[in-house]
Amino acid sequence: MELRVVEDAEAAAREARREILAAVNAARESSRSFVLGLAGGQTPRRLYELLAAEGGFDWSPVHFVWGDERCVPPGDPASNYRLAHESLLSRIDVDAACIHRMRGDAVDPDGAAREYEEVLAGLEDPDLVLLGLGTDGHTASLFPRSPALEESLRLVTATSAPAGAVSPRRLTLTFPGLARFRRGLFLVTGTDKRTILTTLREDPTAAERLPAARVRAREGELWIVDRAAAPQNLPHGGGPDR
Ligand code: 6PG
Repeated sequence: MELRVVEDAEAAAREARREILAAVNAARESSRSFVLGLAGGQTPRRLYELLAAEGGFDWSPVHFVWGDERCVPPGDPASNYRLAHESLLSRIDVDAACIHRMRGDAVDPDGAAREYEEVLAGLEDPDLVLLGLGTDGHTASLFPRSPALEESLRLVTATSAPAGAVSPRRLTLTFPGLARFRRGLFLVTGTDKRTILTTLREDPTAAERLPAARVRAREGELWIVDRAAAPQNLPHGGGPDR
């Protein structure tokens, strides 16, 4: 868990943009496609706007997938697809065939989950998956105490969010699904995330209880957090793996 602490939410979005653009450029230079997993919630919006504002960037190697989706129509305000479409995908030159929407609006969420496994299976070596952090320690739509946490074979599953969460029914990558990505990139900002982030770093039982602590990408996870969300006792700039 590499933790990189930056001044504020804008700096965090800029640092995440830098990481993503550098990774896509590296893939392009080695003539590889690049599979980018998008996150939902509110935090990534500014990152997506900054990515879209990167004038003249060649997005042709990139296949866009999602880490999770709410079971709502794509135009619903709660849709993670809508967030990415309005803040990024509608603003860049990208082939529709490279946008792989999770069909949260399907009448059969389990069927849509299996369909998405086929989508992922058709994309070699997914590169980077963006992730957020809920104040309960969830990430993607992997919530504490959910049966989805025990899924060891399926890459994508239909699941439920806790009562009171936006959109109770979800589709989500599982830990095996997230583990197919080369790297995970958590983007966490705001004082409301400080308690859970401190718990993640300091509570030795966190890995058993908190889904975000259990994400393991092939080459590790980078956490970009702003000062407001960062644990108080960190050295300036963050810290290496625990
Ligand atoms: C979702 C996201 C979820 C999100 C966290 C943080 O579909 O809700 O995938 O995991 O990243 O809940 O959300 P915020 O960025 O809004 O704090």
